[in-house]
Amino acid sequence: MIGSNKIKTAIFISGNGTNLKKLYKFSISKKSPIKVNLVISDNKNAKGLLFSREKKIISKVFNFKKKNLIEKKILTNLKKNKIELICLAGFMKILSKYFIKKFRGKILNIHPSLLPKYKGLNTHQRVIDNNEKFSGCTVHFVNHKLDSGKIILQKKVKIRKCDTSNSLAKRILKEEHKLYQKAIIKIYN
Ligand code: GRF
Repeated sequence: MIGSNKIKTAIFISGNGTNLKKLYKFSISKKSPIKVNLVISDNKNAKGLLFSREKKIISKVFNFKKKNLIEKKILTNLKKNKIELICLAGFMKILSKYFIKKFRGKILNIHPSLLPKYKGLNTHQRVIDNNEKFSGCTVHFVNHKLDSGKIILQKKVKIRKCDTSNSLAKRILKEEHKLYQKAIIKIYN
């Protein structure tokens, strides 16, 4: 697909932005149905912003203290950039029902567990504490309930006896990088 025909996408980040990097790399390949047009962060120190600036992707930082106001500003920005799809990639703020309604069926998220198990934060430690044999990651549509929208794809990861939450997080993150693009291809092809 050529650039101008691709789905205009905004990536929302809060931290390292490794999923952003992989999504961007994917987006410039021929097989990608999406183009990354905008990066939004709630954190001005997010490492991922260095990458988006380096690649000259329009990037905007919004302080979520006044959430309602900020969400309206973000919506204006999305409209201005003709955004059709939002990919949450390590974005740590919860979007309001109002916001989600405006982009119904057009917001995706990646979560580092096999949903519906282990919604929310601190997933890897909780998985280990519960002696689970498997964990993994999930790409899903975002609805108004946390980590509860329709599942698009999941990848299982076996837990090793020696795993710490860090080692497990690293292994799952590698799978996240592959899963997000697969999920996008699954939706749009
Ligand atoms: C990922 O594990 C993602 O699933 C979780 O936060 C992490 C973000 O990583 N919500 P990165 O910022 O994409 O490197």
